[in-house]
Amino acid sequence: MAHMTVVDHPLIRHKLSLMRDKDCSTKSFRNLLDEIGLLLCYEVTRDLPEIPVRIETPLTHMQGTAISGKKLVFAPILRAGLGFLNGMLELVPSARVAFIGLYRDHVTLEAVEYYFKAPSDLADRLVIVLDPMLATGHSAAAAIDHLKQRGAQALRFVSLVSAPEGVAHLQAKHPDVPIWTAALDSHLNEKGYIVPGLGDAGDRIFGTK
Ligand code: URA
Repeated sequence: MAHMTVVDHPLIRHKLSLMRDKDCSTKSFRNLLDEIGLLLCYEVTRDLPEIPVRIETPLTHMQGTAISGKKLVFAPILRAGLGFLNGMLELVPSARVAFIGLYRDHVTLEAVEYYFKAPSDLADRLVIVLDPMLATGHSAAAAIDHLKQRGAQALRFVSLVSAPEGVAHLQAKHPDVPIWTAALDSHLNEKGYIVPGLGDAGDRIFGTK
């Protein structure tokens, strides 16, 4: 089964608590998601392979390191995944981006694809799938299905808040895809929302409620 890491850091807990508050403004919510995105990016890339490189400082030469291995693709699931993208790109500005448009059918709670655009060399890249809310796990699993169908082999998943049901679903469907999340909440309610959660992440990022 794929490993799950709850990124347990006071800065992340503090910022996430501000975001959960129903009175957090759209502007603050977005800024905080950027900041947590950056911090989660730091964690999800912690084990990237490195190679030694020889460098000349103004004083002498020494051996430094450079990141090696597969280049990164960030794959936000539209639309809430976009909220994570700025923070991630701030840390890895050379990464490519794959967009996956999925919406959740409010009756079946199943993920339906309406858009997909990704670099053609997914097989050669490490694909980091982004969705702030890992709720039922249906969108996450479907997004990863589509990425794998287009060749992706090395994938990771990053969420802000996860429900145990979503984690179990994703781990069952894609046991090879490790998960990083800022919080593991209690459960899903009857409408598929994470409790205590933070409400509809897309509406809160884009101010559409
Ligand atoms: N999507 C959201 O935006 N929030 C939830 O709680 C569940 C799914």
